[in-house]
Amino acid sequence: MKKIVVLSGAGMSAESGISTFRDSNGLWRNYRMEEVASPIAWQNDMDLVLEFYNIRRKQLFEVEPNDGHKAIVELEEHYDVNIVTQNVDDLHERAGSKNILHLHGEMKKVRSTIDESLVYELDHWELKKGDLCEKGSQLRPHIVWFGEAVPAISEAVNIVSQADILIIIGTSLAVYPAASLIDYAQTNIPIYYIDLNANDFSFKSNVKCIAERAGQAIPKLVEELIKSK
Ligand code: APR
Repeated sequence: MKKIVVLSGAGMSAESGISTFRDSNGLWRNYRMEEVASPIAWQNDMDLVLEFYNIRRKQLFEVEPNDGHKAIVELEEHYDVNIVTQNVDDLHERAGSKNILHLHGEMKKVRSTIDESLVYELDHWELKKGDLCEKGSQLRPHIVWFGEAVPAISEAVNIVSQADILIIIGTSLAVYPAASLIDYAQTNIPIYYIDLNANDFSFKSNVKCIAERAGQAIPKLVEELIKSK
């Protein structure tokens, strides 16, 4: 089976109602990332950081996967699909996708602040000060904050380097190392970049830009790829 790698960003989940970061109504218009998504922020104002993720985690219990997520599940019946996502929501999982690598963590998980191997699933939305791990330390969001290493990046590079087809969806390609993954694709494989701003970018000739909504463009691309397999 041919290998397809999907690199998804916030635009993948936008049509499910989850805010992106850098669009006009994005999260970074309302919060300064260094105040809510960094180790310094956690030290300076744990309550604000907890609130920032609690508000977003609460929303996760209210949204559903969209047509784009569902179309990728259909693609998985015809290709060996790996998803590498920058998203911390669980919409790919809830749509039914299997091979998912979260580069920037997962919102429904929390972890110990003295032993990062202690990771727990949250079945509710609120993480509070005083919620402790089994070793007695405060639990924190299981998110890669700005300034922290991206533990999954080498696995992601390995996955992308084996792709026969690469589909990049709904990301501004503004954050590294995630944005560099495109450079690890084999030369001249077909690459599709689905993003409302796709035409603002110039890529090599093997990259096809599709400046459409993910929920509209992905089903069309999936139909095309299934026909041509
Ligand atoms: N369909 C397709 N593309 C969309 C849609 C949509 N419905 N809505 C928005 N987009 C596109 C925007 O044009 C933009 O290029 O999604 C992209 C969202 O970009 P960002 O908000 O920067 O999100 P992302 O690229 O995922 O951010 C990467 O930055 O803040 C950190 O850790 C955070 O994982 C995040 C990383």
